[in-house]
Amino acid sequence: ASKSMDELVALCKRRGFVYPASEIYGGLNGFWDYGPLGTALKNNIRDHWWKHMVECPPIGPDGNPVSIVGLDSSIIQNPKTWEASGHVGGFSDPMVDCTETKKRYRADQVEVLIVEGKGKWAFMENQPDTIAKKLKKAGVALDDGERKLLTDLDLSEYATIVAPDTDKPGTLTEPREFNLMFDTTVGAIKSEDNKAYLRPETAQGIFLNYKNVVDTMRVKMPFGIAQIGKSFRNEVTPRNFIFRSREFEQMEMEWFCAPDEALQWYDFWKHERMRWWKTLGIEESNLIFRDHDDDELAHYSNACVDVEYKYPFTAPGYGELEGVAHRGCFDLTQHQTHSKTKMEYFDQPRQLAAKEEGKSKEEINEVSKYIPNVIEPASGLTRAVLVLLCEAFTPDESRASKVYMKFKPKFAPVKAGIFPLVNKDGMPEKALSLYMELREKFTCEYDAKQSIGKRYARMDEIGTPFCFTVDGDTATDDSVTVRHRDTQEQERVNISQVESFLAEKLAD
Ligand code: GAP
Repeated sequence: ASKSMDELVALCKRRGFVYPASEIYGGLNGFWDYGPLGTALKNNIRDHWWKHMVECPPIGPDGNPVSIVGLDSSIIQNPKTWEASGHVGGFSDPMVDCTETKKRYRADQVEVLIVEGKGKWAFMENQPDTIAKKLKKAGVALDDGERKLLTDLDLSEYATIVAPDTDKPGTLTEPREFNLMFDTTVGAIKSEDNKAYLRPETAQGIFLNYKNVVDTMRVKMPFGIAQIGKSFRNEVTPRNFIFRSREFEQMEMEWFCAPDEALQWYDFWKHERMRWWKTLGIEESNLIFRDHDDDELAHYSNACVDVEYKYPFTAPGYGELEGVAHRGCFDLTQHQTHSKTKMEYFDQPRQLAAKEEGKSKEEINEVSKYIPNVIEPASGLTRAVLVLLCEAFTPDESRASKVYMKFKPKFAPVKAGIFPLVNKDGMPEKALSLYMELREKFTCEYDAKQSIGKRYARMDEIGTPFCFTVDGDTATDDSVTVRHRDTQEQERVNISQVESFLAEKLAD
């Protein structure tokens, strides 16, 4: 698995998907830049999410499309936001310093510590249950409270830092809490009063605008607010390529509903999100649900299920891709308390219905005035990029490129390569004119350099599903060859049919 990850990371660099950030200065741990093709892939996923959340949202249980509006809130908000949300007090990871080497690591899947120069792994003293759970998830059998060292367990796939082979652990300090929010200063004077935070999730910007949306957008319960944007977390151990980075993008939707309907919507969104992930062309057996155990739930959550993917570095196990959380009325209540802004919703249709049923005044009030509950499907856009990269990566020794990226055509960064077979006999002109026509509708590339074999090989590596080549016969019968990426087969199509050919292949 790590071999294929290494190969994938190398391909991403070589072909312009993902570069290490600030590479010429030695990089910066946990930060990545998306190259021309990575940006195109990311935009394709982003647009697909937006389309199926905001523009064409799914059909609800009543047979009508649900109602969701979009938002783009500020990355930096009033710092009171993060006190109310619980992030200032609670958004932290336990961390232990090694006093001997001043180096600290926290392995991702198993909370263990490596003491550099001293070998062996030491589990964090006070967390045997958490460790056992994570090990179980990683497919490693371990009884409650039992402790083992990494060298006995071979957890190398879950911990990238390899322990030097000596016996004695170093001296560890007591665990301390390490807040994951990046802070900064707003205004000219650097003081505690001017401290602000880069958002660690896009969700809070949605809660802050809940009232604005209700007051201005003619929305009625239930409805959703969707947002895509950057989030920042000073992760203790960013790892596994772009899986866990310190700057990343999220796609989050907060679904507001009456408290007594929340469980039904939780179930709806859980299945709807899984259905959506499958539309990205992900193999069904690579996706699973994982319900959170009660003691795993975040402070705000009543229930949570993760959509997990079988990453090369978790296989045969799975790792998180999206969380669907039942947040109850936690967030709006917190913001109501901290901001003194009323978040109560008046549900007129419910009031009328209760009146018609002859309910008492108290009963009518109870069903028609409430702080909405929230169901939140929260996923990582950059993590989705990783999933599509992993899913597409297909080694194939029979090809010149030895590997090709089998993206579902709709998500491929380049949909079609347009080539003249050779640079003479009017072929470049014909190919260029086809390219100029197609580029209005699809992301295409015109390429006339090097041999045709090399051009196909490059397109295989970047995952272009179709290549159209103008050759000697084009002048006589107006046909071009189309080469299929996955089968490498070629057929001839009329040049006037190329556009409809592509449109059909790229449909949902
Ligand atoms: N508002 C809820 C929330 O932020 P989360 O589980 O912390 O929940 C949601 O994050 C999703 O964001 C995750 O499922 C993951 O896809 C993505 N994500 C979280 N931290 C990330 C990181 N450090 N790097 C990349 N993606 C991350």
